[in-house]
Amino acid sequence: MTQTLILGQVLDIHSDPFGSTPDAASRFDAHGGVLVEDGRILATGPADELRSRAPRATVEDHGQGLILPGFVDAHVHYPQTAIIASWGKRLIDWLNTYTFPEEMRFGDPAYADEIAERYLDLLIANGTTTACSFCTIHPASVEAFFIAAERRGMAVAAGKTCMDRNAPDGLRDDARSAYDDSAALLARWHGRGRARYVITPRFTPTSTPAQLEALGALWAENPDCLMQTHLSEQLDEIAWVKELHPEARDYLDTYEAHGLLREGALFGHAIHLEDRERDRLRDAGAALIHCPTSNAFIGSGLFGMARAKAEGQIVGLATDTGGGSSFSMLRTMAAAYEIGQLTGTPLHPAELIWLATAGSAASMRAPDRIGTLAPGSDADLVVLDLASTPAIAQRAGRAETIWDAVFPTIMMGDDRATAATYVAGRKLFSPHRG
Ligand code: GUN
Ligand code: ZN
Repeated sequence: MTQTLILGQVLDIHSDPFGSTPDAASRFDAHGGVLVEDGRILATGPADELRSRAPRATVEDHGQGLILPGFVDAHVHYPQTAIIASWGKRLIDWLNTYTFPEEMRFGDPAYADEIAERYLDLLIANGTTTACSFCTIHPASVEAFFIAAERRGMAVAAGKTCMDRNAPDGLRDDARSAYDDSAALLARWHGRGRARYVITPRFTPTSTPAQLEALGALWAENPDCLMQTHLSEQLDEIAWVKELHPEARDYLDTYEAHGLLREGALFGHAIHLEDRERDRLRDAGAALIHCPTSNAFIGSGLFGMARAKAEGQIVGLATDTGGGSSFSMLRTMAAAYEIGQLTGTPLHPAELIWLATAGSAASMRAPDRIGTLAPGSDADLVVLDLASTPAIAQRAGRAETIWDAVFPTIMMGDDRATAATYVAGRKLFSPHRG
């Protein structure tokens, strides 16, 4: 058995800090480590203890680097990598102007391969070890993503985006082919290595009731898969859903009516919810995915994190690449902090890190595997340089607690703060050490 002892500062946020206190929910070791064997975490704790427990382990010492679980990005569109930061549109115009033409290009499998590789390289450079991604309607876009992730040993989740109305020619499937293509991809990829399949109707405006019904049936046949879609992102979108579905009680009802609401459902954005929707989402154990840079960039609105957490919702955090304006979960935490301020609740660094790791992992129903430093979990880690730029270094230099030390990196950090990224115990990226 080869054992690796990864040393640095270790911040282990072992329980949900919302409703607790940051210090009660976490353990910090200024000289700590994570002991890894066969891609799994054997132990996390003080460096001295781990050294005596594993005297023959290969040591990788990151000095002052801060070891955290690798970031988990719970809602992305990897095919939108090349159109990130496209100017000037709100949701529906943004989809029609930038997104759909770009997604059309994924009819070429070589293009899908190129973007999947590029996207996952960006992810690793940013310390993100898991993403839950929409693909395009093309099955080859799903293949490309899973193959690129498998090559890196990454635990990703993804699915074919299904659309059979209100999308351009060449970018529509139908209820039958959405079911058949999704079923074939699911059979091929779900549970292969670290891959998981996500049944993926884009959103109600682009899926007929027949398509939602077919995908609900597929989910019932494969209950341990995930399901992802969008919910109540912009007011225009909600009005459109109400026009399309006068019979529905609310937007969520259009999913609920077709078996698409239960544990394992990830609803992106979920900003403008009605009370019934909130109650049903919580009672069903579905997850709300907060996409703060996207919600600001596309002009969608302010997600009420404090309320959602107080209600007992499962909440994950995500970039929503490329509606979101960054690949970085640090930047995403910063945006979540800013939106917290605008809604009257400053989120503590412990809460931000929790959302970006364990919160997203819980949303993906994988809290024991990823987003955690607990023994037995997968050794997906990020090591952060807490002084990655002069501006951050001068502020962090005054820190008196680990929270003061990490917050400047959360607010001002980017991929330069990634000292190393480990995927299943294997170091994939280290700008300082090659
Ligand atoms: N709603 C439906 N599709 C999309 C998408 O690709 N991005 C975002 N942000 N919202 C959507
Ligand atoms: Zn999205």
